[in-house]
Amino acid sequence: MEALALVLFLTLLVSIVWTHFWGAPWLPTSRAVVHNMLTLADVTPADTVYDLGCGDGRVIVTAARRFGAQAVGIEIDPLRYLWCQLLITVLGLRKRVRITFGDFFSQDLSDADVVTCYLLHDTNQKLAVKLLSELRPGARVASNTFTFVGIDPVREHGQARVYVFHPEPESPTA
Ligand SMILES: C[S@@+](CC[C@H](N)C(=O)[O-])C[C@H]1O[C@@H](n2cnc3c(N)ncnc32)[C@H](O)[C@@H]1O
Repeated sequence: MEALALVLFLTLLVSIVWTHFWGAPWLPTSRAVVHNMLTLADVTPADTVYDLGCGDGRVIVTAARRFGAQAVGIEIDPLRYLWCQLLITVLGLRKRVRITFGDFFSQDLSDADVVTCYLLHDTNQKLAVKLLSELRPGARVASNTFTFVGIDPVREHGQARVYVFHPEPESPTA
């Protein structure tokens, strides 16, 4: 019994941590902060929201159900990807939410109106280059906890540590 518990614990630990090397380990944004991020980014039913590393799907599901948006989640962990597919099917959201399996660095983000992320400091700096070159004018980026060096936030919720950016090509990068 103890051996089984240890195996389960280690499996869970590996499943949470290994994606660190792709961009960030799994740590879900609290539901209150998800709401803050989407509100601060002014998400409307006309928007397409991308969550980069969608985890258990809470951001994309909230964007679709509470804000009426179209949502796209990109996830590199196969278990969480499958979980998200199951979740949007059970919730009847397949027409409004799409889940893509893979590395968000190799996905086209050009049709995003809003990008949300909860990654790491270094990952955000690498991501800034992609956001600046791909996002269309008017797109908003809401980041949990981490900022982008060289791009000033246009709004922030200090207590929740949510920052909203309008990455424009002329913005200086680090
Ligand atoms: C800190 S969690 C955030 C999950 C979710 N966005 C949220 O706010 O609750 C980071 C997620 O990004 C995923 N991830 C990390 N690097 C990735 C990459 N390069 N491509 C796709 N997903 C990635 C991880 O598997 C993990 O689920």
